[in-house]
Amino acid sequence: MVFFLNVFLFKGLIVYPFAAMVGDVNIFMNDVDDPQVAEIEIMIAEPKSRGKGLGKESVLMMMAYAVRDLGIHVFRAKIGESNGSSLNMFCNLGFQETSRSEIFKEVTLELPMTQPKCEELLKLIDNVVTHV
Ligand SMILES: CC(C)(COP(=O)(O)OP(=O)(O)OC[C@H]1O[C@@H](n2cnc3c(N)ncnc32)[C@H](O)[C@@H]1OP(=O)(O)O)[C@@H](O)C(=O)NCCC(=O)NCCS
Repeated sequence: MVFFLNVFLFKGLIVYPFAAMVGDVNIFMNDVDDPQVAEIEIMIAEPKSRGKGLGKESVLMMMAYAVRDLGIHVFRAKIGESNGSSLNMFCNLGFQETSRSEIFKEVTLELPMTQPKCEELLKLIDNVVTHV
């Protein structure tokens, strides 16, 4: 069975009174050998909303949630080899290349959750203000 979690991102959820959807972030627990491996995907669909920190913040929040509440211990991202911004973002977050598909022109990156990485992520989620 494959589980996935999807969160839609809203521009200015906190700052602006009128929120607008700009993208989404997903994780898929689709590794049949290890259900605690999560593939992560992010899309800031609206070009105007890119480059403002939303992508990185959303990925970090999703990862923090997945570590704390789902026990995820490895994150995986599959990215087109020409997608420089996404490759930069995941590599700067500590992901490293584990394989490359010449057919799909796609790079697979992984980030194992070491103890210090988990602590770093959990600190982030402690600082999130939630509104019900
Ligand atoms: C890739 C993407 C998710 C980045 O989100 P974003 O909100 O635009 O990026 P952020 O402003 O949060 O920047 C995060 C990091 O991405 C990288 N980045 C962002 N824009 C970049 C650009 N134009 N060129 C190079 N690197 C870039 C940088 O490493 C940046 O980190 P830094 O600010 O510390 O340098 C977004 O551009 C996007 O949705 N693109 C199309 C869909 C896609 O490629 N999805 C990924 C498949 S999993």
